Formats: sequence, structure tokens, C-alpha cells
Amino acid sequence: MDDVELLVDLHSNASRLGPGGEAETRLAITLSGLGGRQSLKIADIGCGTGASAITLAKSLDAHITAVDLFPAFLEELERRAKAGGVSEKITAVSASMDALTFEPSSFDAMWSEGAIYNVGFENGIREWRRFLKPGGILAVSEMTWLTSERPDELDHHWSGAYPEVDTASAKMALLETHGYVPLGYFALPEYCWLDNYYRPLQERFGAFLEKHDHAPAAKSLVEAEQSEIDLYERHAAFVSYGFYVARKLAD
Ligand SMILES: C[S@@+](CC[C@H](N)C(=O)[O-])C[C@H]1O[C@@H](n2cnc3c(N)ncnc32)[C@H](O)[C@@H]1O
Repeated sequence: MDDVELLVDLHSNASRLGPGGEAETRLAITLSGLGGRQSLKIADIGCGTGASAITLAKSLDAHITAVDLFPAFLEELERRAKAGGVSEKITAVSASMDALTFEPSSFDAMWSEGAIYNVGFENGIREWRRFLKPGGILAVSEMTWLTSERPDELDHHWSGAYPEVDTASAKMALLETHGYVPLGYFALPEYCWLDNYYRPLQERFGAFLEKHDHAPAAKSLVEAEQSEIDLYERHAAFVSYGFYVARKLAD
């Protein structure tokens, strides 16, 4: 297996592939004002194994188009959607988020939790806007500095790994620049990282290493994940995913 296949294998049975939580998806739904509306069309971009798509399907009168690059994640999403009784409300689509071919103005909401960084926040909010109906909702979570200053070690790591990491005020300004009205923002609490994502991931390390006979590539993947966890635990006060909910302004 190459490095990408190993990464997919480490994550493919997980219920979530990044920091987040069901209560936090529901809070974003509340901020969006989508509750109570009928026959919504929502795209969940970078849906992974369905953490947010399944919560959206359970919470709203909506059909969810769930998009991810990796079929293995979509297979797990379909299994979980069936178990949750919402498979009729979700269509899984294997596609790249930088080459979406949806009809213009076709969605009531573009949702994306912990995934827009793959195309960059500014590029994603600009490119995905055209798929929203006028007044449609953008709801994305994105790596965010919680303070204006932070430890050098943390700054250095994330500025290298994801140069677009910035404060919430800077992200809000980008939303305003690109034709959205910010409706709400909150930062994911620590349990969304530790209890919901990192601890279950750590529990999979042992079986993953055994399955791959402790191959060097598997070991270095686990070490890289552990080092990111250690960094987060040292500096949780300074960084999180911010959840941004915004409404598309008419053109
Ligand atoms: C951090 S995970 C978040 C997954 C999911 N939203 C969740 O919260 O569990 C990022 C997701 O983006 C997907 N992804 C990465 N690059 C992509 C691309 N170019 N197009 C579509 N999906 C992509 C990954 O496969 C992965 O499922």
C-alpha cells in the first residue's frame, strides 16, 4: 500500500475523520436557520464516513449529496446511513472537491466539516458559492487561531502545514469579501478533538500496525498522527476548528 492507501485504511472504519461533534453540527444547523424548511438540497463536501451527512439527514427535511474523493469512505458512509435509517436521504458521490460539476444555484446549503482546507478556505468559499441558491447557506469548519498571538512551535507547524490558518475575524472578513453575510461562528470545544476524534484514532493504532506487520510506512504514519495529537494537547488553548455559518448574498 502507498502512503495515501495507508491513510485511508487507518481511517476508513471511523465514525469521524476529523474534529467535530453531533451537537456541534446541530448548533450550526440552528445558526443556519435551515430547521423547519422543507425539501432542502444540501451538499456535504469532503463527507468522509458521514459524520455530518448523517446528522443533517436525521435533523432536516433534506436530501444530502455526500461528496468525497475516496470510495472506501463512501462505502462506510452508506453502511452507517443504512444503520441509522437515513440511506434514502443521502446520495454518495465520488468526486474531487476542486472539480465539482453540480448545476449552478442548485443547493440550499453547502456543508463541509474539516475538509475545505484541501482546496484552501478562500478558494473553496469562492468556488462553491456558485452552487448555492440565492440566500443559500455555507457552513464550514476550518482550522482557526483562537488568539492573536500563539506559541512559536504551534505557529511554525501550522503555518507550514496549512498557511491559510488564521483568526476568526480574518476568516469572517474573507466571507464578507466573497459575497456572504456571516450568520454565526463558534470554536469547536476540546472534546471534539480529544474524545470524538483523537482518542478513537489512538485506539486503532495497535490493530493498524499489526495488520501492516509494523511496516516502516505504517509506523511513520502512526508517529505523524501521534505527534499532531501531542502538539494539539500542548496548545489546545490557541487553536481549534472554527465553525462558520454564512448566507449567500444575491449577485
Ligand atoms: C478531515 S476529513 C473530514 C471528513 C468528514 N467531514 C468528517 O468530519 O468526518 C477530510 C475529508 O476530505 C476528503 N478529501 C480530501 N481531499 C479531497 C478532495 N480533493 N475531494 C473530495 N474530498 C476530499 C478526505 O477523503 C476526507 O474524507
